[in-house]
Amino acid sequence: MTANCQRNNFEDDNCRLRPVDDFASFTGFSCACRDLDDYIQNDAERHDREMISRTYAFHLKDQGSLSPVVAFVSLANDAIRLANRKKERLFPDGLRYKAYPAVKVCRLGTRAAYQRQGIGSYVLWTLRFLFLSDNRTGCRFMTVDAYNDPPTLNFYQKNDFALLSENDAKEDTRSMYCDLLRFREQASAQCRSDTGN
Ligand SMILES: CC(C)(COP(=O)(O)OP(=O)(O)OC[C@H]1O[C@@H](n2cnc3c(N)ncnc32)[C@H](O)[C@@H]1OP(=O)(O)O)[C@@H](O)C(=O)NCCC(=O)NCCS
Repeated sequence: MTANCQRNNFEDDNCRLRPVDDFASFTGFSCACRDLDDYIQNDAERHDREMISRTYAFHLKDQGSLSPVVAFVSLANDAIRLANRKKERLFPDGLRYKAYPAVKVCRLGTRAAYQRQGIGSYVLWTLRFLFLSDNRTGCRFMTVDAYNDPPTLNFYQKNDFALLSENDAKEDTRSMYCDLLRFREQASAQCRSDTGN
C-alpha cells in the first residue's frame, strides 16, 4: 500500500518552504552567527534523524526557478505555561490548563546576504500558515527562545511575538510566544482566495 502524507510544504508564487531532505544543500550557507552556522552544518541532520527537531529550507522563486536555500528553520513540539492574568485574557470562558500546546522555533537563520529584506518574517508567516491548516494535534502558540539582543528581540516583536515574562530579562535568551489563533481568519481568507472559493 502507498500513502501520500505530504502536508508540510508551503509554496506560493514567491517562495517554497519544505522539510530538508538533503543537508548538502546547506554547504556554504552562513547566517553570520557562529552557533547557528555550526548547528546547520554539523548538528541539524542528527536532530532530524533522532526526531528532536525538523529542519525546513526556505527558497525564493524567480520566474519559476528556485534560489539556493536563503533561510532555514528548525521546529519542535513545545508547551507553555501562562500566568493567570494571561490565561484570563486569552481564555475568558475557561480552558484554564497548566500548559498549552505550542510549536517551538528552535533555530532560525537567514543567509547573510539576504538579511533585512523581509525573508525571516516571511518564513514566520509561512509557518503560521502551515500550523493553522490541517493540524494533527492542537497547537495554539508558537514559541521561541530568542537571543537576548535588541535586533533579535525587535525581529520577533515585529512578527507578533511577546515576551512570556520578565524573569529571564538577564538571561542569554528570552522566552517569547505568539498566539496563532489571532491569525486564523487571515489564513482561512488567504486559502479561500487561493482556491477561488
Ligand atoms: C534574526 C534573523 C533570522 C532575521 O532574519 P531577516 O531575514 O533579516 O529578517 P527580516 O528582514 O524579516 O526582519 C528584519 C528585522 O529584524 C530586526 N533585525 C534583524 N537583524 C538585524 C540587525 N542586524 N540589526 C538590527 N535589526 C535587525 C530589525 O527589526 C529588522 O527590521 P528592519 O530591517 O525594518 O529594521 C536574521 O537576522 C539572522 O539570521 N540572524 C542571525 C541568526 C539569529 O540571530 N537568529 C535568531 C535566533 S533566535
